[in-house]
Amino acid sequence: MIDFHSHILHKIDDGSDSLETSKKMLEQAYASGTDVIVLTPHYYPREESTLAEFLGRRQRRVNALEEFCIGSEIPQLRIAAEVNLHTDFSRFSKLHELCISGTDYMLVEMPMAKWEDWMFECIYNITVRGIKPIIAHIDRYLGYPRSALAALDETRPLYQVNSEAFLSYGGRKKMLELFYSGKLHVIGSDMHGLVKRKNTLPEAYVELENRFGEEYISQVEKNGDLILENKPVVRRTTFRSVKKSRLLF
Ligand SMILES: [Fe+2]
Repeated sequence: MIDFHSHILHKIDDGSDSLETSKKMLEQAYASGTDVIVLTPHYYPREESTLAEFLGRRQRRVNALEEFCIGSEIPQLRIAAEVNLHTDFSRFSKLHELCISGTDYMLVEMPMAKWEDWMFECIYNITVRGIKPIIAHIDRYLGYPRSALAALDETRPLYQVNSEAFLSYGGRKKMLELFYSGKLHVIGSDMHGLVKRKNTLPEAYVELENRFGEEYISQVEKNGDLILENKPVVRRTTFRSVKKSRLLF
């Protein structure tokens, strides 16, 4: 399993509060079958000058964690960020350093406030710069107006779903619909700690396998491998029978 969304680095955002917690989060993830974890601390772009400071702090946290975990069995780590779209950051010069390390893929978090046109333009502009946006926890926005979701979809992003979305009946139905309409590409735990907002990725995979079958799980895993290899993800087509049913967006 690959976890595409996590807040494991200590004292950099509202995730792990200590190196000990971070190490336990990693050990537990590894023991439950996670091979790779993408580290995605929150980054809230304001001015470009904040980026170098964020990158430096993130690297110090990664160095400390790697040193602290020497000799432990933990997943492979990939450095990234969860970039919040509350300012147009598309002209920042070092944008690629916010992508998943070794790739052009960037986890972008849409605001919980009303979406505005400049946000879609920002996503379009970073795409022009060669960045491939992955929209974080799309499951969180399914109550948004269809027109807003359709405008986002026109920028042709990939979508990440939080594992907890699979763990309720209503959530499972929506996730199945997302998948069949080509709007579910990868999964992340979005774990913030060991108790509150903990890792539910293994449970989600059990649900995936039991309820939706082999095709679903192998497609999600294939997408994950392709992203980490910086290759294009094969997008699922919306079949006619699915188009006839009530799509979420
Ligand atoms: Fe997050």
